Amino acid sequence: MSTMSSERDFNEIIMSLARKRGFIWGPSPEIYGGSSGFYDLGPLGKLLKNRLENQIRAAFVRANFWEVECPTVSPREVWQASGHLEGFIDPVTQCRKCGQVYRADNLISEKSPETNIAGQTADELTDTIIRIGLVCPSCGGELGPVQAYNLMLQTRLGLDQEAYLRPETATTTYLLFKRFLTFFRDKLPASVFQIGKAYRNEISPRQGMLRLREFTQTEGQIFLLEKDEIDWPQFHDIQNDKLPLVTNQAQQKGKFEPVMTTMSDAVKKGYFQKPAYAWCVHLAYMIFRQMGFSDERMRLRQHLPTERAHYAADAWDIEILTDSFGWVECCGVHDRGNYDLSRHQEFSKQNLSVKVEKEQVVPEVLEIAFGIERPLFCLIDNSFRSESKERDTDWLQFPPEVAPIQVAVFPLMGKPELLDPASEIFSDVMDAGFVAQYDVGGSIGKRYRRQDEVGTPFCVTIDYTTIEDGTVTVRDRDTMEQVRVRKDNLTKVLRDLVRGTIQFDSLK
Ligand code: GLY
Repeated sequence: MSTMSSERDFNEIIMSLARKRGFIWGPSPEIYGGSSGFYDLGPLGKLLKNRLENQIRAAFVRANFWEVECPTVSPREVWQASGHLEGFIDPVTQCRKCGQVYRADNLISEKSPETNIAGQTADELTDTIIRIGLVCPSCGGELGPVQAYNLMLQTRLGLDQEAYLRPETATTTYLLFKRFLTFFRDKLPASVFQIGKAYRNEISPRQGMLRLREFTQTEGQIFLLEKDEIDWPQFHDIQNDKLPLVTNQAQQKGKFEPVMTTMSDAVKKGYFQKPAYAWCVHLAYMIFRQMGFSDERMRLRQHLPTERAHYAADAWDIEILTDSFGWVECCGVHDRGNYDLSRHQEFSKQNLSVKVEKEQVVPEVLEIAFGIERPLFCLIDNSFRSESKERDTDWLQFPPEVAPIQVAVFPLMGKPELLDPASEIFSDVMDAGFVAQYDVGGSIGKRYRRQDEVGTPFCVTIDYTTIEDGTVTVRDRDTMEQVRVRKDNLTKVLRDLVRGTIQFDSLK
């Protein structure tokens, strides 16, 4: 993630807009000074998040995943088995003089980008700090030895049972594997997903919404056998789709520009060893497209072996290009092998295998994992448009399907003969399932402006012509043009416009 100072300024613009217009507030709790890594969502932020969740849920359900929900707290043995107690760690160093704590790897990369620290252990990082003469950036003091710091938030059940808030939903999903076998009548592949809170005790989180200590994760899991990973019929449906890929090999040659590659080429060239895994990467990409991201601002980047989490045999990230922070990692697609189920089988002493040709086999897991707050922030960033000659306000060009408010309804004036039909039309629009806003306050220009500022794609105005001929105006946010639409046809037109099945121009 690049963090040039002009990019930081842009982040300030986005965060102040998000604060002012009721998307994101914090750090929370604001009236007590705020704790880093915690944010509140205001009314429009929550609506936007709901929209993203709806897109995500619909995409998973269409792909035959079933939703589950698990507790967010689990006892120590779960995290010992999952490997998080030992492996979910950041290397930290503390200034011996002022006590400030830093992530050692980030600090070295920031202050000495030419130093290669890939794969270094804590002791090796300590040596590196000494060798390059790194000191505390805030007071110039000596930095202490690098230590492994576990990112899980610890809690207690009852008086004395050690427990942890989950750092991912995935592990809690795996604990249900025996139940899934019954539910799916012993048939694999089986696909499930969770949308729920997860917690990571980040060391001094910066970059606002990008590093949260509490966030909402979406994680889809496919349980399958090794043979399914190769023989994955759904791959044929997507083999001709082109995705913006940045492979491991390309990165090793210093190339980070995405190359649009068909999925069949990607498999033929060996970028993906397993069609099922390639299909998962494609599904994650489709979810991000459905959340409103464009190919121009997306790349799928393969992890270098040194970047992978302790459970991952292969990993690809979806990264979004932002004006605030450059490329931002937003989603990980992981080939977790049979690591998790084997470990939980070993530690729980429960049988988590299935019978395959007379042999007991522990299934493999493929995973799509992301927090919703990052794409939420990136979407606000990507949708931001500066004021211009034509429009005297900064505005948000959200894709209509995910805009927090999709339709605004205005009576031209606060006169009873306009208020009555306007509130009737507003009810029709709400009954049709849109999140709509009714606004009578101020000039019509001001009301359009307020909706542009929060990214509402369509505004409906009821005027005196409505009384005469039963038509209303529909105003398009992007072009600021208006057309007249019969009110009995309004909700259908709005639905088509929001879904993109008709273009505004075709109504002229
Ligand atoms: N479950 C994988 C992750 O949290 O990134």
